Amino acid sequence: MSNTSGGSGHGTGVAARYNPLDPEYGKHLHEVFTAAHREAPVFFSPLYNVWVVTRYDDIWTVLRDPVRFSSTLSTNVAEKENREVLDILKSGWGQVSTLVTCDPPAHNRYRGLINKAFTPRRVNEREAFIRATANRLIDAFIDDGETDLMWSFAYPLPMTVIADILGVADDDLDRFKKWTDDLVERLSFDLPHARQVELAHSVVEFQRYFDGLLKQREESPRDDMLTDLLNARLEGEAPLNRGEMLSMIQQLLVAGNETTTALIGNMVSLLLSNRERWEALCADISLAANTVEEALRMEAPVQGLFRVTTQEVELGGAKIPEGAQLQLLYAAGNVDESEFEKAREFDMKRPNSAAHLAFGGGVHFCLGASLARLEARIALETLTERIPDLDFVEDRPPQRVAHFFMRGFQHLPVRWGAKG
Ligand code: HEM
Repeated sequence: MSNTSGGSGHGTGVAARYNPLDPEYGKHLHEVFTAAHREAPVFFSPLYNVWVVTRYDDIWTVLRDPVRFSSTLSTNVAEKENREVLDILKSGWGQVSTLVTCDPPAHNRYRGLINKAFTPRRVNEREAFIRATANRLIDAFIDDGETDLMWSFAYPLPMTVIADILGVADDDLDRFKKWTDDLVERLSFDLPHARQVELAHSVVEFQRYFDGLLKQREESPRDDMLTDLLNARLEGEAPLNRGEMLSMIQQLLVAGNETTTALIGNMVSLLLSNRERWEALCADISLAANTVEEALRMEAPVQGLFRVTTQEVELGGAKIPEGAQLQLLYAAGNVDESEFEKAREFDMKRPNSAAHLAFGGGVHFCLGASLARLEARIALETLTERIPDLDFVEDRPPQRVAHFFMRGFQHLPVRWGAKG
């Protein structure tokens, strides 16, 4: 997504402090959110030409109303204006709107076709595989005494799991990683034209690869999600066409990888930055599930996503015109004092941590929430069990990912003394 405002300055007050691409902003997130709740719960950012919604209740008002707040075209504004990028995309299957980029009633069909693969029951069947993968990854670095946890653990764990769900060979994980990174980067703001072109080529490459796999499954079906997508039917509805299938696979990769990777890094960092938390978890692993929720609340991997108004609306005291782009700042809703007591404190025993908005809500509620929760819990269980003396590396602080709405680490160096 690009800055379509024509650069009319940073605004004033909270709007002036809102700049997710400035590393300084990332250091004071909760202060900016609290100031917004107090001074301007819905504000316009002239820098990014977006209305930012920060209060828990206002975010829910939007999530419950896909008629006035549409998800169609909410994430690909730049492409509407960029001929060259559009032409490249057209050389593949174009950009078909499914799931996260479409509204009911079309959305109901896509969701209905894929929901059953991600129910808690189906997801829990993967527990043994996820745990074995986590342990295998730890085996590979545990004798080294230190590692970059993002690269050796937080990234390969969800990637391996989603590859398994899709039925793709492990050998292709590095290509997956590149495509996932590229697909996520496309959603950021202010990308130079040359980079947009490269990323569009990457989308087409990804589509061709999966088209090849789908063709293989047409000839020899397997027990995997690609075969399921080919066979998916809802009564009275047309089967998915190839563009729709590719769009859904693309969303599973984008939505399922970087997000869970970021969550694992954020959780470990939140725990290690206050050793007592880490030790409390090691002493009582039954806290793991709620620790995952509290980490999602405090440091949402997806800080906020977008909607477009279909008519003029009033929200949080602001009058917003038709056709305006909104960012639902889930991360800000998650520290709203009217919903969470002492909202800026990390509390692993908080009774309502899971009321956070890190997975969105309403019809677009995260399809992979059960899977992400399971992977994150297993990550905590295996790390605390096998490396209880895990710690930061003093002279190598963690480094954040630079992105408009993702919050995670690029590097998270950690060390330990004992071998396990
Ligand atoms: C910690 C990990 C994750 C986070 C923080 C996260 C966050 C989100 C959020 C905020 C939304 C709502 C989108 C909106 O507001 O429009 C969403 C939707 C979605 N997520 Fe996740 N997600 C995670 C993991 C996953 C996983 C593991 C998968 C799949 C394997 C997945 C697949 C999806 C899909 C397909 C949607 C679109 C659903 C729809 O529009 O009906 N996500 N996710």
